[in-house]
Amino acid sequence: MLLCLFIVTHLIAGVLLHSCNHEHKDEFDDVQIGVVISPVMSNNMIREIGIYWKNPNIKIGDSVGLYNKDPNFNDALPIFKFTPDIPHGFRKTGISADFIPTSKLSFSKKCLGYYVAWIRDDVVKKTNCLSTNPSWMGDRRKTLEHLKMRDIFLPGTHDSAAYAKHKNSQLELIVDKYTITQDEDVLAQLIYGARYLDIRIGRYPNHEHTFWGNHGPFRIVPLKTVINAVKYFLDKTDEIIIFDVQEFPVGFKTMAAHYELTDYLEKEFAHYLLPRPANGWKITLEDIWNSNRRLIIGYDYASVVASRTCVWPQVGHQWGNVRTIGALYKHLNKVETQAAEESFNPNPSSQPRAAMAQLTPTTFDVIFDRLGGLRKMAENVDINITEWYNEEWQHTANVVAVDFLKATGIVETAIEWNDKRAAGC
Ligand SMILES: *[C@@H]1O[C@H](CO)[C@@H](O)[C@H](O)[C@H]1NC(C)=O
Repeated sequence: MLLCLFIVTHLIAGVLLHSCNHEHKDEFDDVQIGVVISPVMSNNMIREIGIYWKNPNIKIGDSVGLYNKDPNFNDALPIFKFTPDIPHGFRKTGISADFIPTSKLSFSKKCLGYYVAWIRDDVVKKTNCLSTNPSWMGDRRKTLEHLKMRDIFLPGTHDSAAYAKHKNSQLELIVDKYTITQDEDVLAQLIYGARYLDIRIGRYPNHEHTFWGNHGPFRIVPLKTVINAVKYFLDKTDEIIIFDVQEFPVGFKTMAAHYELTDYLEKEFAHYLLPRPANGWKITLEDIWNSNRRLIIGYDYASVVASRTCVWPQVGHQWGNVRTIGALYKHLNKVETQAAEESFNPNPSSQPRAAMAQLTPTTFDVIFDRLGGLRKMAENVDINITEWYNEEWQHTANVVAVDFLKATGIVETAIEWNDKRAAGC
């Protein structure tokens, strides 16, 4: 009550009203419901639609429906319906979402053909849809601009360049099962709302493309492809991106190799990258926007950062190296609890940190395919990550980097809590 006297209204893609004033709360304000897309592929299924929900005031007779048009239209009929019997949970639908090529995605927020609704007494009480979020930061410039990158909840992708976008289900080789971490290319990841990219680079001087996006020793996609996607997105939007070069798994034995890479990045991202300012990560979003350079390149090698102003100190990765969901919870709880303590005694450099929200297989897990591959592992934790960041760590979250972005609700969660933080909740 004392903190939350503000009602902040945003007019974004319809009406999004956030109020922290508990006295005038609608009973459905806190209900969450959303559509996610499974990363798991099998012979007869790809992109299976899942629905997550949270409704502490669930009543007998309530139902949840999946629709392929806006459920508020009178003639909308559900294509799948079920009766939730617990206050929060997750349900797979057996329905496969259509393939959407990245070229069909646009730069304004849009529902992509799948909607969910909470129904009580035949009345639609709350809806949501599978949505893009290409402009969420720029749309909130007024409420975010006084903040630093360290202060906002920023959805990100882990190993962003290790992607494979398949139209049809296919059998994966064991290498793919343990190297592919994303099912959308980098442009689509950004359009869906990620603003933090975790990039690992391999250097292959004898190859047509010298630099590649890698996962460990495996090269996945030419770095040039990733760079072009980032530039195209920045051209079309007013968003801010962290391009964080985190690992150098192949071809970086010498300082000369690092300087070759930073020179290449500087040339490719000329007019896009923001040179590191004197106050470093303490810069506000307002100053970033005013500079009209909305790309920050992090570089995980201090001696390179010391001699090149085109790169910034990297975002600190917080790894659990855990293989079970319980251990992942413990790891994330530890880093977020620590962040809450530090908020009384802030990090002097304001360097952002990334909670790495995925399981990590051991070598033997990979050799014996014990955990079923990264897709299966992500499916098992992605829903829980969303729930945890909605209910426990929403006040402290900074960057949260996930595998298979659309299998989580992390983008919606981050946007919602950035609004609530701005409103003093
Ligand atoms: C993960 O989420 C599922 C579905 O909501 C739930 O049944 C399970 O208990 C959760 N696990 C943990 C460790 O929170």
